[in-house]
Amino acid sequence: MSEDKPQGSKGGLEGVTVAQSGIATIDGTKGELRYRGYSIEELARESSFAEVACLLWNGELPTKDQLTECERGLAAHRSLMPEAKFLAQGLATRAGPMDALRTMTSALSTGDSEEATNAARALRLTAGLPTIVAAYARARANEPVLDPREDLGHAANLLYMLRGSEPTTEEARVLDVCLILHAEHGFNASTFSGRVTASTLSDIYSAVTAAIATLKGPLHGGANTAVMNMLLEIDDESNIAPYLEDKLANKQRIMGFGHRVYKVIDPRATVLKALCERVAKLNGDPKWFHLSVKVEEEMNRRKGLYPNVDFYSAATYHYLGIPADLFTPIFAISRIVGWTAHILEQYENNRLIRPRSEYVGPGPRPYVPIQER
Ligand code: SDX
Repeated sequence: MSEDKPQGSKGGLEGVTVAQSGIATIDGTKGELRYRGYSIEELARESSFAEVACLLWNGELPTKDQLTECERGLAAHRSLMPEAKFLAQGLATRAGPMDALRTMTSALSTGDSEEATNAARALRLTAGLPTIVAAYARARANEPVLDPREDLGHAANLLYMLRGSEPTTEEARVLDVCLILHAEHGFNASTFSGRVTASTLSDIYSAVTAAIATLKGPLHGGANTAVMNMLLEIDDESNIAPYLEDKLANKQRIMGFGHRVYKVIDPRATVLKALCERVAKLNGDPKWFHLSVKVEEEMNRRKGLYPNVDFYSAATYHYLGIPADLFTPIFAISRIVGWTAHILEQYENNRLIRPRSEYVGPGPRPYVPIQER
């Protein structure tokens, strides 16, 4: 029996609306992104990652008391169980960053209490992921794994645990805004994975683990690491044209450009470009920002493509001293809020997600015994 024909011009559910959601709106034509109705530009300018987490989970901007309670909750749940630290050390020499993150996030479920609410689990996951990433990174570098500090904000504590020293207020603010920008983006592939898993009424840790596994793919989450490696390979403005010429002639994708939904510049890229320039000035080293601008200009000229969220985040994270292969885990440290907001929304009004497909295999035929094949 042939099932429905796939909608969308090129497969991949392109252009297909699969569900209703009240969390984010993306206008790909105008290049607009809103979280619960608030523009990403205003949130980047006025808000904090903790406040955006409350907004995405609860649907409203928190009151001062609600925000203080959320910040205290995030700080209180940063520490890892001893066995998780041990796991980080074990994985540090044997697993890549996203494999380690996927494995350790799944292991977080062992510390779960039956009576916890899924909202509490969302906060616990959001609090714990930075500590997991930092523990893995420090163990891999044979540096002492640092305990989280409850006296630092979310972004400041992440930089402290990664680098071993307190960041400046300015650096912490740059990272906090980066976390706001990456927190949520509708039905992207990793969020959709999480919702499909949650729709079977599997637990939130499993749904988040599915999302992390999906984010690892280079067409989705791995792009900004590739962007930084590209910038390091190009190194000088004079190499941009031949580099792009060669890649494009070989039909290779230039990471950090293009988007399934945005047909103009990704509004997050515009904010990240300004953040990148700001942190380049802080470092007194315009090289990587300048190179990024020139690559953007050349890609726009050659392919009419615009940067997406992964393009300027690469040099920005590099300036903050974050190793390139940790960029996607940093994406997950932010997107955990969007993932859990969608998972909670799925649980609230659930229906098993089970689409259909168009059958294009062989028609009915009789079994052939092996001696006759
Ligand atoms: C994220 O979905 C989300 O919201 C994701 C995300 C989020 O916040 O969750 O925004 C985060 O994943 C950002 C994207 C990160 N990935 C990359 O930067 C990888 C490089 N980008 C491409 O692979 C691509 O742009 C996609 C996958 C992002 C989107 O591709 P589509 O919608 O499937 O478009 P397509 O493959 O049909 O390409 C259309 C045309 C093609 O040209 P033709 O073959 O028709 O001549 O544009 C070309 C493509 O070759 N093209 C590119 C390109 N992206 C598209 N050419 C060179 N380099 C690119 N990056």
